[in-house]
Amino acid sequence: MNQITTEGLYKIYKDAECIFSQQQVMQSIQRVGEAIQADLSDANPIFLIVMKGAAVFAGQLLTHLDMPLEVDYLHATRYGKETSGGVITWKVKPQSSLEGRTVVILDDILDEGHTLLSIQEYCKQNGASVIKTAVLVNKRHDRRHPQMNDADYVGLEAPDKFLFGYGMDFKEYWRNAPGIYAVVE
Ligand code: IMP
Ligand code: MG
Repeated sequence: MNQITTEGLYKIYKDAECIFSQQQVMQSIQRVGEAIQADLSDANPIFLIVMKGAAVFAGQLLTHLDMPLEVDYLHATRYGKETSGGVITWKVKPQSSLEGRTVVILDDILDEGHTLLSIQEYCKQNGASVIKTAVLVNKRHDRRHPQMNDADYVGLEAPDKFLFGYGMDFKEYWRNAPGIYAVVE
């Protein structure tokens, strides 16, 4: 089995390229919060946190929202422990009723869009009346699924590299990194 050592994990972090500093990430989350607040302060929205990647983004974003809202979560994953490919696996579905609600889906990163498309479809099928998407990072490339539009709220525009930190993982590690980093192989 291809087990990564603690030393190897430190090396990944030490060698990584910092794409956005913690300060840049925090400022972008504040901007996303202000935009959501301006649009949805009277919409009584329900926020759906896509675990695990969106946990850090969601935790910080929610503190910028001075408005009534509910929070639920779901666990849908595209990658498992691999860094590419794979279909969407639903591990946990939201427990709240979405019927007639304004739903804001929070994810760490919009890459090809399979994850958000599948979650948007779930929300539609479960009666959500308005569906918005917010991502911390939009990954720029030309592989976007043809049916997936840009997210409604985007924190940062990132190059087409494998990223970790601020919730995003490298093989399940470094979700805790205090900034957004690209793996340097
Ligand atoms: P998509 O379905 O292709 O848009 O991929 C989005 C999902 O894949 C996100 O929810 C992330 O969990 C994961 N993902 C995509 N790109 C990266 C990356 O660069 N680093 C870490 N996770 C990523
Ligand atoms: Mg994810």
